[in-house]
Amino acid sequence: MMHYDFDEIIQRSDTDCVKYDLRKIVFRDGDVLPMWVADMDFRTPDFIISALRKRLEHEILGYSFRSKGFSSAVVNWMKSRHQWEIRPDWISFSPGVVPAINMIVLAFSQPGDKIIVQPPVYFPFFSAIENNGRTRVDNPLKMINGRLCMDFEDLRSKSTEAKMIIISHPHNPGGSVWTVDELQQLAAICLENNVLMISDEIHSDLVYSPHKHIPLASLSEEIARHTITCNAPSKTFNMAGLATSYLIIPEKALLDRYNHMLNDELHLSGGNLPGTVALEAAYNKGSDWLSQLLGYLQGNIRLVMEFCKNYLPAIIPIIPESTYMVWLDCRNLGFTDEELNEFFIRKARLGLNEGRQFGPGGEGFMRMNIACPRSVVLEALQRLKHAI
Ligand SMILES: Cc1ncc(COP(=O)(O)O)c(C=O)c1O
Repeated sequence: MMHYDFDEIIQRSDTDCVKYDLRKIVFRDGDVLPMWVADMDFRTPDFIISALRKRLEHEILGYSFRSKGFSSAVVNWMKSRHQWEIRPDWISFSPGVVPAINMIVLAFSQPGDKIIVQPPVYFPFFSAIENNGRTRVDNPLKMINGRLCMDFEDLRSKSTEAKMIIISHPHNPGGSVWTVDELQQLAAICLENNVLMISDEIHSDLVYSPHKHIPLASLSEEIARHTITCNAPSKTFNMAGLATSYLIIPEKALLDRYNHMLNDELHLSGGNLPGTVALEAAYNKGSDWLSQLLGYLQGNIRLVMEFCKNYLPAIIPIIPESTYMVWLDCRNLGFTDEELNEFFIRKARLGLNEGRQFGPGGEGFMRMNIACPRSVVLEALQRLKHAI
C-alpha cells in the first residue's frame, strides 16, 4: 500500500485559490495563516490527478455526458463506505451541493414558505432560503455536554407549518454525527408533518471511529421517499474546484421534479468533464488514501485538544466526531464578536471563520480548519498562545 505524506507544505498562494488568495479581501490582511474555507492544504490524491492526466491525453474536451461509470462509482461507494444500497437511477447531478440546495428550494417550495434549519450551521443554507424569498425558521441546536444536539421539542412545534428542513449530516461546524436514534426522531416528526427532508451529507466520509455515518434515507423506505440526499467527493478528496456533486432521490416524483429544474429550467445537467473523471477515480480508488487521511486529521485534532488543555484553557474546542473543522468555544475570553474576530486576525494573525456567521448559537465561537500539515496547526496554536 502506498504511504501518503500529509506533512509536506505545498505553496498555494497565487493559484487563484480562495483560502490563500482572497485573504486580503476577507481578513483585510494578506498574511494571516488561513484556516477558514473548507478545503485541504494536502495534495489532491495521485490516482485522481493521473486519471485527469490520462483523459487530457486525448486533447479534445468537447461536450460530454456522465457515463454509467459516474453512477456506478457512486453506487459502489455508498455500498462499501456506508452500507447503503442505492440504485443508479436514483442519482442526479449538481455542480455543487450549495447549488443543489438552492435548486431544491426553488423546485419544492414557493416564495414565503417556511424552511427549517438548525443553527449554528453552514451559512449558505440561510442564503438558499432567504435569497430565494422563502422564510427561514430556526430550530437551534443545543450544546449538551460539549456536543451540539438537536432540540426535538422545538422541532415538533415548528414543523407543523414548515415545507422543508435542511440538515447538515454530519454537522458543520459542530462535527456531530447524527445517530440512528436522533435521525429517527427527526424523521418521525418530519413525516408526521409532511416536511421534506434535505440531508446534506457532504462530510459523511470524514467521520472518526467509533462514530459511524448512517445516511438518513437508509433508515427506511418511507424516510427515503421523503428525503433528498446531497453528497460529493469534493470535501473527502480535495477537489472542490471541479464543481461536481450529486443527489440521491429514491422517490420518482421528486427526482423528476428536480431533474426538470436541472435539465429544463436551468440547463445545468451537462456538468463538467474533469469533475466526472475525478469522481470516478476518487470513488473507485480512494479508500486507502482516505483511511490514511482520517488518521492524520485525528492526529491534528488531538494536537488542538491537548494544546488548548495545556496552554489555552480559555479556549474550549468541541471534540469533532467528524469533519476537519474544530469549533472553538472562545466565550471565556470575554470578547464581543467584533473584538474576538479582531483578536484572531490582528493579534494572533490567523484567518478563521467567525462563529456568528453560522447563526444563533455561533456567537463567541470560531471555526478552525485543521486540514493542513501538523506543523501549520502547531504554528497556529503557538500564535494563539502568544496572542493571549
Ligand atoms: C455542509 C456543507 N455543505 C456544502 C458545502 C459546499 O458544497 P459545494 O462546494 O459542493 O457547493 C460545504 C462546504 O464547506 C459544507 O460544509
